[in-house]
Amino acid sequence: ESDKCFECDDSIHKKSHPIQNVIYLTDSWWQSVNGEENVSIRLNLEAEFHFTHLIIKFKTFRPAAMVIERSADFGRSWRPYRFFAQNCSRTFPQVSSGSLRHNNDVICEERYSDIEPSTDGEVIYKVLDPAIHVKDPYGLDIQELLRITNLRINLTKLNTLGDDLLDRRSDVLQKYYFAIKELVVRGSCFCYGHASECAPVPGVSARGPGMIHGRCVCKHKTEGLNCERCRDFHHDLPWSPAEALEPHTCRECECHGHASSCHFDMAVYLATGNSSGGVCDLCLHNTMGRNCESCRPFYYKDPQRDPRDPQVCRPCDCDPVGSLEGGVCDGHTDLDLGQISGQCRCKDNVRGLRCDDCKDGFYGLSLSDPQGCQPCSCDPRGIVLMAAPCDQISGDCSCKRYVTGRYCDQCLPGFWGLSDHVSGCRSCDCDVGGALHNR
Ligand SMILES: *[C@@H]1O[C@H](CO)[C@@H](O)[C@H](O)[C@H]1NC(C)=O
Ligand SMILES: *[C@@H]1O[C@H](CO)[C@@H](O)[C@H](O)[C@H]1NC(C)=O
Ligand SMILES: *[C@@H]1O[C@H](CO)[C@@H](O)[C@H](O)[C@H]1NC(C)=O
Ligand SMILES: *[C@@H]1O[C@H](CO)[C@@H](O)[C@H](O)[C@H]1NC(C)=O
Repeated sequence: ESDKCFECDDSIHKKSHPIQNVIYLTDSWWQSVNGEENVSIRLNLEAEFHFTHLIIKFKTFRPAAMVIERSADFGRSWRPYRFFAQNCSRTFPQVSSGSLRHNNDVICEERYSDIEPSTDGEVIYKVLDPAIHVKDPYGLDIQELLRITNLRINLTKLNTLGDDLLDRRSDVLQKYYFAIKELVVRGSCFCYGHASECAPVPGVSARGPGMIHGRCVCKHKTEGLNCERCRDFHHDLPWSPAEALEPHTCRECECHGHASSCHFDMAVYLATGNSSGGVCDLCLHNTMGRNCESCRPFYYKDPQRDPRDPQVCRPCDCDPVGSLEGGVCDGHTDLDLGQISGQCRCKDNVRGLRCDDCKDGFYGLSLSDPQGCQPCSCDPRGIVLMAAPCDQISGDCSCKRYVTGRYCDQCLPGFWGLSDHVSGCRSCDCDVGGALHNR
């Protein structure tokens, strides 16, 4: 440029050096206000990323001190990654300047803050130092270290050509500024192993080759920008990051078509020996249970219908005269428990699916009778053993051939001696010569 010593001015296009210049490759650069230290550059990412390294290429001298910090919660809280200074113990006395032992140690490094070179100097930061062996790259500590939503670079001290040694007044600093040509941030979108590609977040336009976007194209029935949860209605297993041999695919809840949402319940999951933890919400069609698999009280499962049929639960049909418990019935068939789907709870002397019949030996079904029916009072000697002892409704007993009376306790005229005999009574057999009649 011919115009060598102009003032940097962001309101004049030709004299401005906006921050965009460091991201989109241009011939120009970003430049800070002359003489200002403690300048910070903040990069807001569109989602959560796995950050691996940062390369900053400076147009002029590298800073005499700087800090790289990150946030994993969209800028609410920040933690430092690394400090850089020409003299760490002087500039950052609180930070260790020893060598790195663990990847998550926060240290201060001196090698990137020299005044040399005066142009094109770089600062390189790698989150995982290649010299440090990582036992478990999927371990929580490593994952925590890599996750970022924002990156901040604080340029805290200007390098000067020694003319500030005696006097660091701002008029001396006025000749100096920070200037960056290029900022390379490398990493990948962060999908917990549930995606193999990433697309732009809604509202973010795809710009330039090599730009990684933040919205994971989720597989394994997961969803979210980072595939960080199971898809709706897929909560039968707990969400979990994918592993090399086990994708931990989210599983659909089984609600038999009677619910449209479900949730995961850890207690249920543990109780089933880790096989199923999905609980259906708001079962419809008179169903209930964590899989909407049974019928609500006062309904029973129609064995003729498919369990997914909206009509599968039918209202109990109990005769109020012979039923107990207000007409509740067995919800399903369970022979071990002696339950038959639709069977009403009958009073003691009542039977039938609807409880509308007297048991054998009883008659006179009645609402006011707590037992439902009363016992037939037939004379056991006079009744036919093959049939019900008495009429269910009238209570009349069924008498043997030569027996009569409501209770079958009398012999017919001309017969006598009621007994267990097959005909009940014996004929009088009076001699027609001597008897007036056969009685
Ligand atoms: C930058 O911040 C440090 C520490 O807060 C302070 O000592 C220094 O004076 C500041 N520099 C300028 C130029 O404001
Ligand atoms: C760094 O600063 C400390 C404290 O001011 C000083 O004692 C030390 O000599 C300096 N080191 C170098 C290499 O200048
Ligand atoms: C970096 O700069 C920001 C904003 O200027 C400030 O809030 C923060 O405390 C600085 N971080 C460090 C480690 O000095
Ligand atoms: C079941 O899952 C829980 C929670 O994920 C886990 O702590 C436990 O070890 C698992 N039990 C079995 C038998 O796999």
